[in-house]
Amino acid sequence: MPDSPVFEDLDPRPSLLMGPGPVNVHPRVLRAMSMPMLGQFDPQFTQYMDETMALVRRIFRTENQWSFLINGTARAGIEAALSSLITPGDTVLVPIFGRFGHLLTEIAGRCGGTVVALETDWGTVFPPQVIGAAVEEHKPQLVAMVHGDTSTTMAQPLDEIGPICRAHDALLFVDTTATIGGMPFEVDAWQIDIASAGLQKCLSGPPGSAPITFNARVVDRLKHRKHVEAGIQPPGFEPGDGPRIQSNYFDLPMLMDYWSEARLNHHTESTSMLYAARESLRVVLEQGLETVWARHRHVSQGLRAGLEAMGLSLYGDPQYRMDNVTGVYIPESVAGDDVRTAMLEDFGIEIGTSFGPLHGKIWRIGTMGYVCRRQSVLSCLAALDVTLRRYGYDAPPGAGVTAAIEVLG
Ligand SMILES: Cc1ncc(COP(=O)(O)O)c(C=O)c1O
Repeated sequence: MPDSPVFEDLDPRPSLLMGPGPVNVHPRVLRAMSMPMLGQFDPQFTQYMDETMALVRRIFRTENQWSFLINGTARAGIEAALSSLITPGDTVLVPIFGRFGHLLTEIAGRCGGTVVALETDWGTVFPPQVIGAAVEEHKPQLVAMVHGDTSTTMAQPLDEIGPICRAHDALLFVDTTATIGGMPFEVDAWQIDIASAGLQKCLSGPPGSAPITFNARVVDRLKHRKHVEAGIQPPGFEPGDGPRIQSNYFDLPMLMDYWSEARLNHHTESTSMLYAARESLRVVLEQGLETVWARHRHVSQGLRAGLEAMGLSLYGDPQYRMDNVTGVYIPESVAGDDVRTAMLEDFGIEIGTSFGPLHGKIWRIGTMGYVCRRQSVLSCLAALDVTLRRYGYDAPPGAGVTAAIEVLG
């Protein structure tokens, strides 16, 4: 039998990733991922786990003891939160203003929740009183929503939602995958009970680890569903009085035992991803969250000035735009996917398309994390200027880059 092929060495071409994530990984994070393996109970490794918990607390701006990593992409964090918190039959209110709100209904439904979906037009967000009225009417056990929905590039103000939920004894879960490290997000000050994220956007890490944090209100609910695998139960263990969480991998009480001093074995922590998460968080926190948020806002302003100077129109309600990704209408005369392909092939620059009703209507240009720099914006605008002209849309030559330089210096 002929030898089966083992293919060429990996040789991905370097690209500038200016879509809505993943983005280019910070070199320090890549370096961290090549560090030697350690055993999962090696004291040096458990110290790294504890340090990572401290860093996760700081990125979420919380004092929550339970702040750690879920192994898996950002939706693993969402799935851990929802599958651990939703007891079949619970009412879950999901305000939807884009694709990722729909993802929450999908996961909540699979967990057996009775989902009440509240929808608004894409390109806008919810006034808090609309969510307040729905909480009052449906009396959900859980409200689950997205902070920044990359599909529409809109960010939902959250500071009034937490107090509304608290007043009605509902827990509030927030998916902050797209905003963490890119715009203000305050777990404790906004009274968010549980939040999860991913590394691959403003934290400049690879996809594959989901930071999560939750407070004592959540722990109070979880304790009714506490269960420990038969092979590792401590003597005299009494399970909780509620139904067992259907997922083993995403069982938060078991994960708490693993991430606590008990170090009760669960999965094998993904060593290289823990190194990546720890380094991603260090890179952001060393700069200071306020500085990093301000940089995202400023660089986006430069990009937006450039796009408008090219005669392009920005998408969505200006008051609620995310600070780290920009939606821009595709001019009617050009095929959006042809332009994206040419940007990638000719310039090595990736920009994003969108989903559902926005597919073919807007591009999404990210200025996230390691990519959030003046140079990326100028390169992207210059490439877009040339590419658009090639496809028949005549932007005033050089106007985009010139306008961006006026903002960014
Ligand atoms: C707001 C939001 N939530 C969740 C996800 C899902 O993340 P992942 O693909 O890492 O599971 C994304 C991915 O783009 C996102 O933007």
